[in-house]
Amino acid sequence: MISKKLAKAINDQINAEMWSAYLYLSMSQDAFNKGYMGASHWFKHQFAEEQEHAEKFIDYLHSQDTKVVLAPIAKVQTEWKSILDIFTETLEHEQKVTAMINNLCEIAEADNDRAAQNMLAWFIDEQIEEEGNVRTIIAKLKFMEGDKNGLYNIDKELAGR
Ligand code: FEO
Repeated sequence: MISKKLAKAINDQINAEMWSAYLYLSMSQDAFNKGYMGASHWFKHQFAEEQEHAEKFIDYLHSQDTKVVLAPIAKVQTEWKSILDIFTETLEHEQKVTAMINNLCEIAEADNDRAAQNMLAWFIDEQIEEEGNVRTIIAKLKFMEGDKNGLYNIDKELAGR
């Protein structure tokens, strides 16, 4: 049986995932406005993934006979300095999400809640993958900084996600 503390923390995480989705939808708009159609597509994909994360947590709380209470989604930034700036903030944001997932793991461990630990293992792997993907994109963007052809090709790659 899930503890009240963990149920509340997962419920908060649902809001955090939905906020992430909204942040990435906003980044998708800004990338589009800057002419990076591939990056805009990449962030739209990210928007959908974050909603899937929220749904996974919702399904888990339901499986534990726990009611989900949806909270309002806070405002997000709408404009960034550059495409590199957008991805740099993405990495910083994902690092914060990783810390949140680790916090959920700590609660589950303290509760000796094996079911929750098992469910959270998926998120640990997901965070490794997300951070790694964004680090690679940042490295490419830095390498091609100031090179319009290079940036065009990176954007084309991002369109393939
Ligand atoms: Fe839901 Fe990008 O972590």
